Amino acid sequence: MQAVIDYLKEHQSRFVDELCEYVRFPSVSAQPQHRQDLHACAEWVTKHSQSIGLEARLCPTEGHPIIVAKTHRANTTNGHRPHFLIYGHYDVQPPEPFELWKSPPFEPRIEGSSLFARGACDNKGQNLAHLKALEAYLKTNTELPCDITFVIEGEEEVGSKSLTSFLKENREELRCDAIVISDTGMPDRKHPALTYALRGIAAFEITLHGPSRDLHSGIFGGTVDNPAMALCQMLAQLRDKNGRVAIPGFYADVEKLSAYERKEFKRFPLNMREYQKLVGVPKLFGEKGFNIVEQRSARPTLEINGLTSGYQGEGSKTIVPSWARAKITTRLVPNQDPVKIIKLARRHLTKMCPATVRMEIQSGHGAEPYIVSPKSPQAQAALRALKSAFGCEPMLMREGGSIPIVNVFKKTLGADALLVGLALPDDNAHSPNEKFDLDCFAKGQLMSAHLWRELTRL
Ligand code: BES
Ligand code: MN
Repeated sequence: MQAVIDYLKEHQSRFVDELCEYVRFPSVSAQPQHRQDLHACAEWVTKHSQSIGLEARLCPTEGHPIIVAKTHRANTTNGHRPHFLIYGHYDVQPPEPFELWKSPPFEPRIEGSSLFARGACDNKGQNLAHLKALEAYLKTNTELPCDITFVIEGEEEVGSKSLTSFLKENREELRCDAIVISDTGMPDRKHPALTYALRGIAAFEITLHGPSRDLHSGIFGGTVDNPAMALCQMLAQLRDKNGRVAIPGFYADVEKLSAYERKEFKRFPLNMREYQKLVGVPKLFGEKGFNIVEQRSARPTLEINGLTSGYQGEGSKTIVPSWARAKITTRLVPNQDPVKIIKLARRHLTKMCPATVRMEIQSGHGAEPYIVSPKSPQAQAALRALKSAFGCEPMLMREGGSIPIVNVFKKTLGADALLVGLALPDDNAHSPNEKFDLDCFAKGQLMSAHLWRELTRL
């Protein structure tokens, strides 16, 4: 094991260079013009995996390619050799708005101990940390106590559609004891974390159609409804003053938080003032009766992610717009069902919609919430690995984000996910100036190196 640790230390600066190469690909899965870039990025991951000694292949899909990279299987005929999957994604969120980036999103910049680039922490840096740990085992000829398969996809940020069918088709090859995922956060540098719950998600787009074309607002305004106005009036009714989602039935299936969990949440290292500064709001807002930790991870929400209508350019244009559109997502907690939630939302919006406009609702991706016991032997092994790498006591936490594929892993492979994320709260995932802390990168490699020992010691 010492050889592995020494190897990681010795090659750290090359690893950082490699992360820089990785984040240069503008692998934005939501934008069709980047299709080739996703492919090129997938090829880079495949070649890189091969160069460190893994058997890797690029698997084309209807969407973006999936990379499967595995350790050479040891010839063990007797008994069960543990097998773990490491899941990650090479696709990234759109970098817009460009003008808020201090340096271009796909030209990595190192400042202090941070590497700035879109995808640096979500998720390229985090999956590269695991690849580097494996490289250290393979290049030092250190015996691995288990088989390992990397599955790195290119559609996580858009709902993981191709991977869902891929898992079903390759169920036998991918059967495993657990899935290890570093794609979540940790409270701060001194508190590594094991995440035992993720929120689910249900996405939809609502469009209101008014006049058949944009109309002169002086000539026609006052005789026709304004779709932007109608949409705002509808959207404004989706949340009440206590921060609760006002769709009838929305909370019907929400599991009540146990007294035990609510007590645990209070121990979370979170300072209200610092938190407010981090998010940059004049005053915090959230569902009444719950604290921030609960609001951001254990309670469901509804957000407008985008709102478009009329003229968006410089100066003014006096029109009644022909249409208005909102992109909406709800975050779900156990036991809410995304399909049911979309149905409830559709029914409610249909009821609210005035006859003066025509409504269209398009449902998008969905994912169920995820929760596992943090007390399992595997979870305990992960906690030990985190502790060895970071040198301090790890926390147990719930996260508010979603990783849609975790429930699919559970259903198709029957395996639970160990969520050992390396992102810091100020890493700006999905925001301008995304970064990854290079210390978390290095400690993440160490954690991964320890993890295989801990998991197989069980
Ligand atoms: N890494 C995130 C998920 C995440 C972020 C989990 C923070 C916990 C804490 C992941 O890449 C992500 O952003 N997922 C999307 C999924 C969605 C587009 C279906 C999300 O949560 O918005
Ligand atoms: Mn993301």
